Amino acid sequence: MDMEFEKVIRDRQSTRKFKNMKVEQDKLDKILEAGRLAPTAKNIQPQRIFVLQSEDAIKNINEASKCIYGAQTVLLVCCDINEAFSREDHSTYLIDGSIVGTHMMLEATNIGVDNIWIDLFDRDIVKDRFKLEDCIEPVLLLPIGYREDDCPYSIFHDKRKDIEETVSYL
Ligand SMILES: Cc1cc2nc3c(=O)[nH]c(=O)nc-3n(C[C@H](O)[C@H](O)[C@H](O)COP(=O)(O)O)c2cc1C
Repeated sequence: MDMEFEKVIRDRQSTRKFKNMKVEQDKLDKILEAGRLAPTAKNIQPQRIFVLQSEDAIKNINEASKCIYGAQTVLLVCCDINEAFSREDHSTYLIDGSIVGTHMMLEATNIGVDNIWIDLFDRDIVKDRFKLEDCIEPVLLLPIGYREDDCPYSIFHDKRKDIEETVSYL
């Protein structure tokens, strides 16, 4: 069991050239379920996930980001910032949304659906084109699908720092 999870962690890599096809509904359901099960602060579950796959939605998201890479299914992960846990000037909405995104990214990899986490997109265009309420804040895009045969190997995938550079025992 443990080894399988480790394989998912090791095998996942960013996909920057997708085949021109949507993700099948049964696989999409599994990915969305992994997002549903994600932990969030106080279990508030402020995530709002939009499945973009109509012709119009894909056109609009390509106008908001140059990093869609041909994907025909894109998950737009947002959070309701009015609902998310907050105290004083600190809100957990970015953390909650990121955990949801991570759950879905790893489940996608687990079931053979390639993916990439995208931060580089115009949030104003997204809010405008998808008519999001003011309280719905985009956190990430997750283009998902299948790598093209000539999709380049992710350039940074094998370039991780040594553990000593990022971990200190105190
Ligand atoms: C928070 C975050 C934001 C990212 N934003 C982008 C992006 O806007 N465009 C892009 O091409 N890749 C983006 N990536 C992918 C990273 O560049 C990639 O994960 C990293 O280089 C390591 O490569 P790997 O995912 O293949 O292991 C992002 C990844 C994360 C975690």
